[in-house]
Amino acid sequence: MTEIQQIDFTMMYVTHDALRRDVGRFAEAVAAGRADSPAVRAGWENFRAQLHVHHTVEDDDLWPRLYRAVGGQPEQLAMLAGMEAEHAVLDPMLESVETALIGGDASPLGERVAALTVALDGHLRHEETSALPLIQAVLTPKDWKGFGAAMRRAQGLKGAGVYVPWIVDGASAADRKRFFAVLPAPLEMVNRLVFEPRYRRMGLWGV
Ligand SMILES: [Fe+2]
Repeated sequence: MTEIQQIDFTMMYVTHDALRRDVGRFAEAVAAGRADSPAVRAGWENFRAQLHVHHTVEDDDLWPRLYRAVGGQPEQLAMLAGMEAEHAVLDPMLESVETALIGGDASPLGERVAALTVALDGHLRHEETSALPLIQAVLTPKDWKGFGAAMRRAQGLKGAGVYVPWIVDGASAADRKRFFAVLPAPLEMVNRLVFEPRYRRMGLWGV
């Protein structure tokens, strides 16, 4: 009997949590009347860039691996189509937040950020409860590594320099430890000495 190899989903969960944290910070900034500050603008731009890379690599690398693995099973195909559709629904919502952000006081920015928060959280939860179990069932750790490599290629070294400190921004000591445990050992020190000081100077969200 072949033993099922567990896939480590740490990177997926920490990325989803960082995305949730950012929309939460955005909503707080809007409520506090700080939405037009450069720090919020910079936080929003980084959030969009992180989400774009995350979804693009899922669309281009992860879902195709799953489509190949599930063959013609209708329920699983429908779930995967749902993942793509949810990504597509989020795009115009991001645009509508962007428009409201540029529009200033009169625009319904708070409502649009609230709608984005609900849609994003719904999508991430759907992915965590439906797509990740399917990945565990039909893909191999080698597939997962391939997806991770595609993600790193899309980010590049410059992107990693922001992604790593962005993930641990505001994280507890225990969460930081868990995150760095799945990365190559030198990254924790590189982050502390190089990435994190640079990231802090970006002053995202003004927090
Ligand atoms: Fe994801």
